[in-house]
Amino acid sequence: MGGGAGMSLGEERQAALVEAARAAVRHAYAPYSDYSVGAALLFEDGAVITGCNIENASYGLSLCAETVAVAKALGEGRRGGLVAVAVTGPADRGGGAPITPCGRCRQVLNEIAQLGGTDPLVLCVGSDRIDRVRLSALLPRAFGPANLA
Ligand code: THU
Repeated sequence: MGGGAGMSLGEERQAALVEAARAAVRHAYAPYSDYSVGAALLFEDGAVITGCNIENASYGLSLCAETVAVAKALGEGRRGGLVAVAVTGPADRGGGAPITPCGRCRQVLNEIAQLGGTDPLVLCVGSDRIDRVRLSALLPRAFGPANLA
């Protein structure tokens, strides 16, 4: 199994990715919004890289969990191979409904996805359901590195 754009995640790998996102929430630095988010990226080689939101006293400088995870992955030298992403927010806000990556994070995720030619599955993890959607559905007709080639 290669792990390309069309693959479906096994139940076990999905559960592990969701657990990694939930664990990442614990590191969130969100004293201003009190809204802690965790994200976990799964790569073709099985690696999982997590991120949490990191806020700043200058509020507008805050970083989302997905963006932090992508920066960690790129900073470790990864340039593609992104298979899936799990994102989870606080259970006691918004009715515990699944959250989707914000617009900026969709673009940031698209960068590493497009570099490797994958269309990652985004698992939007709520307290009692998980919505599964492809990044291309969240960000259709994306602008990316291919446009600058
Ligand atoms: N946030 C994320 O980390 N990811 C999202 O997909 C949505 C929003 C963060 C940003 C901010 O620190 C807090 O959630 C409230 O907006």
